[in-house]
Amino acid sequence: MMSIVIKGGTVVAADRSYVADVLIEGETIAAIGEGLSGDTVLDASGTYVMPGGIDPHTHLEMPFMGTTAAETWESGTFAALSGGTTMVVDFVIPDSDDLIGALDAWDARASRQASADYSFHMCVTGWSEVIFAAMEAVVGRGINSFKHFMAYKGALMVDDDQMFASFQRCAALGALPLVHAENGDIVAALQQKYLAEGIRGPEAHAYSRPPEVEGEAVNRAIMIADAAGVPVYIVHVSCEQAHEAIRRARQKGMRVYGEPLIQHLTLDEAVYQHPDWNYAAQRVMSPPFRDKAHQDSLWAGLSAGSLQVVATDHCAFTTAQKRMGLGDFTRIPNGTGGLEDRMPVLWTRGVETGRLTPNEFVAVTSTNIARILNLYPRKGAIVPGADADIVVLDPKAGKTIRAAGQKSIIDYNVFEGVEVRGLPRFTLSRGEVVFSQGRNDAPRPGRGRFIPRPAFPSANRALSTWKALVAPRAVPRDPALMPIGV
Ligand code: URP
Ligand code: ZN
Ligand code: ZN
Ligand code: ZN
Repeated sequence: MMSIVIKGGTVVAADRSYVADVLIEGETIAAIGEGLSGDTVLDASGTYVMPGGIDPHTHLEMPFMGTTAAETWESGTFAALSGGTTMVVDFVIPDSDDLIGALDAWDARASRQASADYSFHMCVTGWSEVIFAAMEAVVGRGINSFKHFMAYKGALMVDDDQMFASFQRCAALGALPLVHAENGDIVAALQQKYLAEGIRGPEAHAYSRPPEVEGEAVNRAIMIADAAGVPVYIVHVSCEQAHEAIRRARQKGMRVYGEPLIQHLTLDEAVYQHPDWNYAAQRVMSPPFRDKAHQDSLWAGLSAGSLQVVATDHCAFTTAQKRMGLGDFTRIPNGTGGLEDRMPVLWTRGVETGRLTPNEFVAVTSTNIARILNLYPRKGAIVPGADADIVVLDPKAGKTIRAAGQKSIIDYNVFEGVEVRGLPRFTLSRGEVVFSQGRNDAPRPGRGRFIPRPAFPSANRALSTWKALVAPRAVPRDPALMPIGV
């Protein structure tokens, strides 16, 4: 078996840093220690040797808002690896009750094209006996998380009764519910108000999704999860109102997790006032970017531990696709990119400024989400036996982010012009050097593997909320007891 030794770097884990070589045999880490040798030596002097990044929130080639996200599995996973991210978790969005059919369609695209390892979350966009039964089959396929949209009324949005039913089902199956938390009814009402007033540009996207609609929905999702006796993971937390709800719940002993995006940590709502329509529309996503006070709240949450994960929600559309919303902001496809830039931007704006320690950086880019999604320690750790998914991060290597030359196939970059440091010298995926600084060849499409994430075992179901532990309640398993539709 061929071996690789990563020599002379500082191993940075979520809990400590130490100088050591890392020996890889085949696809896994074989040993960590001093003076190790192998067939190939990678020079890691002056670098940090970290678990590869895990991005738990991507939408590659997703059909959405009358079009399909233009970033492919091939370009998206190449972009990820070149930025130090070695695994993505993408959202399967079924367009009927046939969850397994949708999963097969997603997996067909991913397995042909992905060069990084991947997993899926399954979206629950309605409720029926068919979905109730299919959720068990989904868990059987190695998917332990189900996503719910409280926004996108008339499309993906679920009502409270549907969400409550699905959350109870998650509790019974040992799965984790995820939530896009914005009050979709209020968003729809505000959209109509601004359209009626003739305010039809990208700035109205932000006006129609104020922090209050997010804070309300996060509170509601947490209370519904507590009633169902299940933890809950809030995706793309963008504002203090949402963070506050999460903080308060955690303080009460509830298992509630919060995921800010690198975009919301660093980009400002002022972008929606930009005189160039294209520039503003390219940055339209939900929730919208916020002002500095909200950004500071998110940074504080990462260092205090009330927010656990930094993701991208990579859902990238070309400028031509964004122009579907010219004259009506509600038709601008929602989403931005970031897969290639998450790690260097977080390093630069987080670690170099002193907001995060290098160990916290590893926690929020990799280790925490590996634990939350039941991937740990196969992913998210540098320990013998773990997959050799490793980023050798050079804190001195820098660049100016430019759309020209990026691995992403989108024609712009929301971080255009941002100076970053902390680039990968090498990225390894299951023991293969898939990226190295100065080399531009893409890894083989299809080399990425689906990584199963089993249900949380009942003996270690890190899954009940505090309230459910104190007053355990029967979870109905009989579909006849479950609320069906509305
Ligand atoms: O605007 C966004 N976030 N687009 C992707 C879909 C979603 O809501 O996560
Ligand atoms: Zn969302
Ligand atoms: Zn998303
Ligand atoms: Zn309803």
